[in-house]
Amino acid sequence: MKRQAKTRAWHHRHVNDYFVRQSVEQGYRSRAAYKLIELDERDRLLRPGMLVVDLGCAPGGWCQVAAERLRGQGRVIGIDLIEMVGMNGVTFIQGDFTADAALTELEVAMRGQRADLVISDMAPNISGVVVADQARAYHLAELALEFAERWLQPNGAFLVKVFQGAGFEDYVRRARMAFASVMIRKPKASRDSSREVYLLARSPKSGTRAED
Ligand SMILES: C[S@@+](CC[C@H](N)C(=O)[O-])C[C@H]1O[C@@H](n2cnc3c(N)ncnc32)[C@H](O)[C@@H]1O
Repeated sequence: MKRQAKTRAWHHRHVNDYFVRQSVEQGYRSRAAYKLIELDERDRLLRPGMLVVDLGCAPGGWCQVAAERLRGQGRVIGIDLIEMVGMNGVTFIQGDFTADAALTELEVAMRGQRADLVISDMAPNISGVVVADQARAYHLAELALEFAERWLQPNGAFLVKVFQGAGFEDYVRRARMAFASVMIRKPKASRDSSREVYLLARSPKSGTRAED
């Protein structure tokens, strides 16, 4: 298919997509919001009073869902490479999560408090070279896991987008070493055609790393 035809086909699929229509009707900034809504309904991830850290948060669908569920009690801190329009109850940091400066800014915003929930929907820009894209995605997921191990409460939870294929089994093994429980989820809003799944890990075994 020619490039222009592919773009037209993508646009047609997108506007006719059930979750895109729902997000427009219900005022969510992304169809991704419905992934977190489903996972929260199933796994009870969000409660008032929590500190939630959202890695790769723009345009803000997950932040909206988290802020709604916290009902004004607790905090949501989001970080993204690109600008995100401000939102009540959400502290936003624009920066590269892989860079020391942005990580420090994030840790300062946490004010020494451990997170109850770390969520990462980060995805690199797709180059089309599958091997390189997969490696970049796993680099982000690996750094997110290290962050979660270091900054989660002992009974905290970590939700991260990962892609099936090269690196998947190793990542699940690594998560099982670091957390007491690890599950794989494929929410309905995640397209069947996508290799993306979500890994949900609970209770880091490291316990006290933030004070190291
Ligand atoms: C699928 S989108 C997230 C959608 C979001 N969960 C929502 O509900 O609106 C992935 C995001 O990851 C961000 N991202 C990718 N690499 C990043 C990095 N190194 N640091 C921070 N954000 C990054 C991208 O800029 C993009 O906005």
